[in-house]
Amino acid sequence: TGDGEVKTNIITLTRFLTERQNELGNHATGDFTLLCHALQFSFKSIAYYIRRATLTNLIGLAGSSNTTGDDQKKLDVIGNEIFINVMRGCGKVKVLVSEEEEEAIIFPGDGKYAIVCDPIDGSSNLDAGVSVGTIFGVFRLTDDAEGTAEDVCKPGTELVASGFTMYGASTQLVLTVKGGNVNGFTLDNALGEFILTHPDVCTPSRVMRIPKKRGIYSVNEGNSIYWDEACRAYFDSIKFPSTPEGKPYSARYIGSMVADAYRTLCYGGIFAYPADKKSKKGKLRILYECAPMAMVMENAGGLAVTSDQRRMLEVVPEHIHDRSGIFMGSYDEIKKVNEVYEKHG
Ligand code: AHG
Ligand code: MN
Ligand code: MN
Ligand code: MN
Repeated sequence: TGDGEVKTNIITLTRFLTERQNELGNHATGDFTLLCHALQFSFKSIAYYIRRATLTNLIGLAGSSNTTGDDQKKLDVIGNEIFINVMRGCGKVKVLVSEEEEEAIIFPGDGKYAIVCDPIDGSSNLDAGVSVGTIFGVFRLTDDAEGTAEDVCKPGTELVASGFTMYGASTQLVLTVKGGNVNGFTLDNALGEFILTHPDVCTPSRVMRIPKKRGIYSVNEGNSIYWDEACRAYFDSIKFPSTPEGKPYSARYIGSMVADAYRTLCYGGIFAYPADKKSKKGKLRILYECAPMAMVMENAGGLAVTSDQRRMLEVVPEHIHDRSGIFMGSYDEIKKVNEVYEKHG
């Protein structure tokens, strides 16, 4: 059908998951499908609370801080509790790591999956009505796993699925599986269903692929006094192009990783949170921010590297809240970062 006509062949996330499971034939247990149904329920619930936060006095601080030193917003705590309860209830999760929990949570039962999660990413922006999101990653436990934090201190290359949900003008879910494409779903609030929109039935070609290059950069320049020489040289090279025909890049920084990542995925360009003199290991956490986002970017045709120019997905965290510097986005752009770092070795 053309634009504007009634879509009668709607693919919900539920149908999408059933079709993927059927493609796997009868050796698929259905566990991953049921886990994803639980994940989507947590996103719908968190979206519901976020949309009503100002009406129900849920904005503002909870009065506590988390193990990574962040002041917790009320919605950080609520989003975390929703996520824990839904993951426990689905019976498919053994280990859960959350930004808001100091230790990994080990559920009873024989769940085969470990989940890493940032229940509300960008929560410092919540009271200002800026888009926030939930970031998640899924590991499949090895058969001999005991169900401990060790089961998630793994490289992002071992993630079987990852993605994020952005609570913005609409609620957008971005989902990718190991070696797969990146699919986008939009929450239809009337139906209470995530509807496949990337690709959708009208534009089957529209999977989520990040443009190979785009003159947009996204970094907190308020930290530039702390940047190392190579970092400064890279950003200067795109702000003050040396060739006469070179055009300076546009700056876009929202301050919610999910929102900056979604724009970067859709429009291209680069998002960076470099390690610097102030945040020596970087600010963003490897397990539930950097690795899931790196998997989405790579599966969409982009790249993601650390401040040491290592492939982000190969980094193995020692501790569940370990941090890393990150540069991620358009393929050509990250190659340019590599070159500048190479030169300033
Ligand atoms: P969270 O709200 O989950 O703690 O994450 C906040 C992160 C990330 O969303 C964003 O990219 C970054 O903090 C912004 O940090 P600055 O305010 O230092 O730029
Ligand atoms: Mn936080
Ligand atoms: Mn975050
Ligand atoms: Mn968070």
